[in-house]
Amino acid sequence: MSIEFSLRSGDPSRLGTPLLAVALPSDRAVPKSLSALDKSLGGAIARVVRSKDFKGARDESLLLLNAGRGPERVLLVGLGAAPDHNAVTRAAGVAGRRANAMGVRTMAFWAEDLTTARLENAVIGLSLGSWDYAELRTPNKDKPKPLIGATLCVTSTVGTKAAFNNGVAIAAGQRIARTLGAMPGNVCTPDHIARTARDVGKRHKLKVTVLGRAEMKRLKMGSFLAVAQGTPQDPKLIAIEYKGGRRGEAPIALVGKGLCFDSGGISIKPADRMEWMKFDMCGAAGVIGAMEAIARMKLKVNVVGLIGSTTNMPSGTAMNPGDVVKAANGKTIEIINTDAEGRLVLADVLTYAERFKPQAVVDAATLTGAVVIALGNIHMGVLGNDQGIIDEVLAANARGGEPGWQLPMTADYKEQLKSDVADMRNVGVRGAGTITAAHFLSEFATNFKWAHLDVAGTAYSEIDLVMIPRGPTGVPVRTFVEFVRGRAR
Ligand code: BES
Ligand code: MN
Ligand code: ZN
Repeated sequence: MSIEFSLRSGDPSRLGTPLLAVALPSDRAVPKSLSALDKSLGGAIARVVRSKDFKGARDESLLLLNAGRGPERVLLVGLGAAPDHNAVTRAAGVAGRRANAMGVRTMAFWAEDLTTARLENAVIGLSLGSWDYAELRTPNKDKPKPLIGATLCVTSTVGTKAAFNNGVAIAAGQRIARTLGAMPGNVCTPDHIARTARDVGKRHKLKVTVLGRAEMKRLKMGSFLAVAQGTPQDPKLIAIEYKGGRRGEAPIALVGKGLCFDSGGISIKPADRMEWMKFDMCGAAGVIGAMEAIARMKLKVNVVGLIGSTTNMPSGTAMNPGDVVKAANGKTIEIINTDAEGRLVLADVLTYAERFKPQAVVDAATLTGAVVIALGNIHMGVLGNDQGIIDEVLAANARGGEPGWQLPMTADYKEQLKSDVADMRNVGVRGAGTITAAHFLSEFATNFKWAHLDVAGTAYSEIDLVMIPRGPTGVPVRTFVEFVRGRAR
């Protein structure tokens, strides 16, 4: 389901809309710019603020009905104390979700000083909060339908159009990523991932290359192919090239793990909650979503999106624990646990990235359960081989409202990857699984500056996240976009 956004200047009190959301910071008097609206509501806003029926706390909301002209309903949403630009995303998200629950199809949003980052975030928040994956449900007349239109109320459309457009671009990228994430594994196959990448390519005239099993064999991608040998579905290595920068300028490479289902393989996972492993392609979805956003934003930079997509299945042809395979860069890997498959796929995709001579490589992967234990659903794990690029990622995390936290990748952790028979094994022996996984990847990121995002806890959530219901979150689209924007001309 898509949503149309529009920009409108002038006083919100005269807006004919079923719902106007008004974002207010905590414990502050009603701003002057709202006096007309408040008057049309008979002074209700000032009254609920004074009586503390509405305190403006984060995630708080209060619905007021309007008997007169203008908006039919006014939803006050709290921004919290000392709100930063990300508070607007959250308040708009809460408003978008409430709109869906109410069943209104269009709404408007107002906040003070809705310019630049705050305006961009208001668009993104409304989209995040109202997004719904209904494609596989039989339409139900009794169930409210999601929002299809939202108007951003600004003081002036002069100088706000660019931020508005960027918000719409990023929101579109997130919606692609979340839809791919929500799709079950029998619908979102490696083939479907490739098709979606081609769609983005067609829309924006980007070069899209798709390699299958045969091409990967020719490139000696024994690590990726070891994972794919257990499934009859053709694995896909996808490259999407966006050229917004100078000719010949080294691109940024965005790399994503695209496991359309991860059963664990022969080292099979427990049955309980195994269905969540359809989300094991959220890194890839983040790459496709980011490419869509970057192309829409026309960022002046070259970017290549790279995806490794397959499924990890137990079968008579599957890889076995103890097997040794040779990756495309010539290194041999002893497979101790077939459930550590993401790193095997990414190993060869990272080697493939070398041919683009990238200025920087950032990969995102739902790589380890350990990162969920360490950081939960809030921060993604950030690691890499260069502190400068890690700092850039952390700054992108903060700008994009997708928090990240660096984990220590000191050499001591790497000891665990020593193998008796091969150059390395694919798992460590004990704790710090996120760090040993990153150390494994670093063996294939030797020729460029690289950062790794472990988004296993953040790309989707098993719990409700206030502005986002449980399921796919759109992470890491914004982190990718902000990283790229930070390097654009
Ligand atoms: N896709 C999983 C990681 C994962 C686990 C994501 C839970 C989201 C929630 C990955 O392929 C995996 O199975 N990792 C193993 C590695 C282990 C065998 C070293 C893990 O984390 O348990
Ligand atoms: Mn696994
Ligand atoms: Zn996996």
